[in-house]
Amino acid sequence: MANQAQTIEARATFITLMLREDHRNLRQLFEQFDNTTMTKKPEIVREALAVLEVHTRLKEELIYPAWREHVHEQSLDLMDEVRETLHIVHALVNALKNMDPEDKRYESMCTALRDQVTHHINEEGKMFPLAEQTDLDWERLTTHVVQRRQSLEQKPLWLLGVPVIVNARETVRATRAVLSGRSGG
Ligand SMILES: [Fe+2]
Repeated sequence: MANQAQTIEARATFITLMLREDHRNLRQLFEQFDNTTMTKKPEIVREALAVLEVHTRLKEELIYPAWREHVHEQSLDLMDEVRETLHIVHALVNALKNMDPEDKRYESMCTALRDQVTHHINEEGKMFPLAEQTDLDWERLTTHVVQRRQSLEQKPLWLLGVPVIVNARETVRATRAVLSGRSGG
């Protein structure tokens, strides 16, 4: 049984690893946002919005629906909270995308986005281990997520310095090889 659980978790790692890398990237961008001049903030925000646009769409379209079907009944409330926060993040992304940086509300909207993204990262930190333990078809989901990400970003996906191949089995093997040489997370 323990071996089966470990196998599921290893197969699940690719998607949660990809999402954690997005979170790390976003934390860095918001840190830069806090420590830069007003003139440089819009460029950083644009970069964060591009990451968030893809991050939220992958979860709304593919990842959360798959997780929701498989997580334990006791985790459904947490799943709903996570989805609700993501929905708020997505709404803020849409509002900021069309907002002029000269707009009076711009900076407070950016601060609201940073706070909601931080909240989202904390909530998802609780969700990831629960999702990783589920016995869903991770290889199929990984293939769909990678294909969708590449079509949204219009460029090949790289993760931890490894080019991601659409064949999920190869992708999982490649990222596992990188992870085995890297400690912590
Ligand atoms: Fe996330």
